[in-house]
Amino acid sequence: MDCDVKDLGLAEKGRARIEWADQEMRVLAQIRGRFEKEKPLAGIRIGACLHVTTETANLLRTLVAGGAVVAVCASNPLSTQDDAAAALCEDDIADVYAIKGEDNETYYGHINAVLDTRPQITMDDGMDLVATLHKERRDQLSDLIGGTEETTTGVIRLRAMQTGGVLAYPIVAVNDADTKHLFDNRFGTGQSTIDGIVRATNRLLAGRTLVVCGYGQCGRGVASRARGMGARVIVTEVDALRALEAVMEGFEAMPIREACRIGDVFVTVTGDTSILRREHFDAMKDGAVLANSGHFDVEIDKSALAEMATDVRRIREFVDEYKLPDGRRLNLLAEGRLVNLAAAEGHPAAVMDMSFANQALAVEWIVQQRGKLEPKVYGVPAEIDREVAGLKLAAMGIDIDELTEEQAAYLSSWEHGT
Ligand code: ADE
Repeated sequence: MDCDVKDLGLAEKGRARIEWADQEMRVLAQIRGRFEKEKPLAGIRIGACLHVTTETANLLRTLVAGGAVVAVCASNPLSTQDDAAAALCEDDIADVYAIKGEDNETYYGHINAVLDTRPQITMDDGMDLVATLHKERRDQLSDLIGGTEETTTGVIRLRAMQTGGVLAYPIVAVNDADTKHLFDNRFGTGQSTIDGIVRATNRLLAGRTLVVCGYGQCGRGVASRARGMGARVIVTEVDALRALEAVMEGFEAMPIREACRIGDVFVTVTGDTSILRREHFDAMKDGAVLANSGHFDVEIDKSALAEMATDVRRIREFVDEYKLPDGRRLNLLAEGRLVNLAAAEGHPAAVMDMSFANQALAVEWIVQQRGKLEPKVYGVPAEIDREVAGLKLAAMGIDIDELTEEQAAYLSSWEHGT
C-alpha cells in the first residue's frame, strides 16, 4: 500500500488492539461476513477522512471485505492511533496517510493524497475532504457517486452547502441516524470525554464543579457521566428548550459569564466558535482546566489565551499551563482539540459498532442507488437504522416483544376513545 504513517514497527501492537476492538463490534462483523460473500462494493474506490483508530480499522476491513479499494487520512491532526495506522498499512487494508501530531500542512497533504486516488465515494468526519474537493479539485467531482458524513459539525457544513446550492453530489448524513447520534454522541462522547480529561490530568472530579457548554446529545452525555463521577455539573446553553431540559434533568443552568467564576473544569461541546474567550479567562479560578470535545479546535479561544499569558509550559503530556499576569494558571488540554481522541482513545468500540454499521450500510445503499440520487444531503434510510438497532440487540443477546394483532390494530385505528 502507499502509506505515510509514523512507524510500521507499531503494526503488531495495532493488530492486537484492532482485534480487541473487533470483539465489541459484532454488528459490523456480521455485515463484514455478508459483504465477504456478496461483494456489494466490488471495485468501488472509497476515500475516507476519519479518525484513524482501531474502530475505524474495523470499518475499513468491512469495506474492503465488500470489494472496495480504500484510502484513508486523518480527520484531525491529533486523533490518529499510530499503531492502528501501521497495521492497516502493513495488512494491505488501505492506503493510509495519518500521523498523530501532524502539522496543518501535512494534514492537508494527506487529504490530497487520498483525493489523488480519485475516490468515487467519500467518507468524511467533519467535511474537510468534501470541502477540499469542492474548493480545489472540482475536476474530480464528476467521479463521485456519493459520500457519507459521520459527525454533527460536518452535517451542519453540508447543509450550508446544500442551502448555498454548491453541493455537487449526494451525501448521506450518517450522524442523523438514531442508532448513531442517540448512542455515539451521547454515551460515546460522555464516556470518552471524561476518559480524556482524567487521563490528561489525573484530577479528581468528585466534589468539583464541571461546566458543560452545550447541551446537545454530546453535552448530555458529558453532563450525565460527570455527575456519575460525583461532580457538581453546570450547563450553559443558548437554546431555552435545551436549558430547560438540563434543569429538569437536575443540572444547574446559567450563562458562561457566571459559570466561568465557579468552574473547576470546563468542557465545550457546542460545535460553534469562541465559546470560552478572553472575558471568561479573566474571571476563571486559578488552576481551572479547559477541555474541548467539539469537532474543531475553535471553541476555546487559544489565541486570546496565548496573548494574555506571560508564560506557557507543557506541564503534562496533554496539558499546557497558561500563566496569567496576576499569577493564575489556566490549563488547556490537548491544544483545545478533541480531548477524547487526543488524550484518550475516542469512543469505545461497542458504540462505534453502531455508527460504523450505519457507515458500511450507507455506502452499500449509495452504490445500489447509483445514478438515482440528487446532489443533496440524505438521511440514513429508516430500514438501515432499524436493522442496526435489531442487530445490536441481537448481538447483546437481548430479545424484545412484538405487537399482538390486537395491539397493532388498536394503534392503526382512530375509533377507540374514552
Ligand atoms: N469518533 C469518536 N470516537 C471514535 C473512534 N473510537 N473511532 C473513530 N472515530 C471516532
